Amino acid sequence: MQATTLEALKELALDCARSAGELSLKRMKQPYTVEYKTSASDLVTAVDQEVEKHVIEAILKKYPEHGILGEERTFAGDPRQFETLWVIDPIDGTTNFVHQQINFAVSIAVYHKGEGLIGVVYDPSRDEMFHAVKGQGAYLNGERLELTKTVTLEEALLCTSVFWNKQAEQMGIDLIVKRLASKVRGMRLLGSAALEMSYVAAGRLDGYVSLSLNAWDFGAGRILVEEAGGRVTSMEGKPLPFDQKSSVMACNPTFYEELQNYIQGSETDAGLT
Ligand code: IPD
Ligand code: CA
Ligand code: CA
Ligand code: CA
Repeated sequence: MQATTLEALKELALDCARSAGELSLKRMKQPYTVEYKTSASDLVTAVDQEVEKHVIEAILKKYPEHGILGEERTFAGDPRQFETLWVIDPIDGTTNFVHQQINFAVSIAVYHKGEGLIGVVYDPSRDEMFHAVKGQGAYLNGERLELTKTVTLEEALLCTSVFWNKQAEQMGIDLIVKRLASKVRGMRLLGSAALEMSYVAAGRLDGYVSLSLNAWDFGAGRILVEEAGGRVTSMEGKPLPFDQKSSVMACNPTFYEELQNYIQGSETDAGLT
């Protein structure tokens, strides 16, 4: 891809993230409907859908030939038919949006032939814009992010999601995380995978692990962590897909092997392998 095309895509992704974030903040102060998607712990609001439509409209106005994979499925086409695919989560952290009115973000990524080129995560409540371009580094409000610190598992501040639910309990995964939590310095659970991965890129957290995330949850965050110098794979150590669900492990590279070995060892101890 030409440098000028990449630059234009980046500018559009940044503009979309900012205007989507502003729209969600504005709509948060007005009445909106909240529905259950699959259960009481899986919410969707009218704002999620409005914001997604707003972003899709802006993208297709400039690039009608591009495809979109968005959580709310307001794009009609089959995302796998397109060479250039935008992977969007209009509001990552809907539960936080509804309950806390903070700790949610817009996540926008651009993939070309399956390769992650651009990742943007915008936190409108704090006006924090995280962005990364493949080969050009990761940035927070224009300041370069680089993971240069050496971290051991014992010193790590980790973050997780999904683990504390019924499914995790049935699979014995909660035991692995319980063990991990007693091994590391601290464990956090913020409720927005996109923000949590952005915080790993920024060094505010040393690592993030999740049993299962959708492509739109990690689409941008994974590019941010990699461009900051971190490592991102599935929990089994495999490369992440760009259009499917996966477990996710994103961390400072200096303790990646230690974390991976610890998780694999815990799986064996829990009888999962
Ligand atoms: C959710 C958040 C949460 C993660 C869930 C996601 P949503 O996204 O990223 O942190 O644990 O798996 O579904 O539904 O708020 O966009
Ligand atoms: Ca959701
Ligand atoms: Ca999400
Ligand atoms: Ca969402």
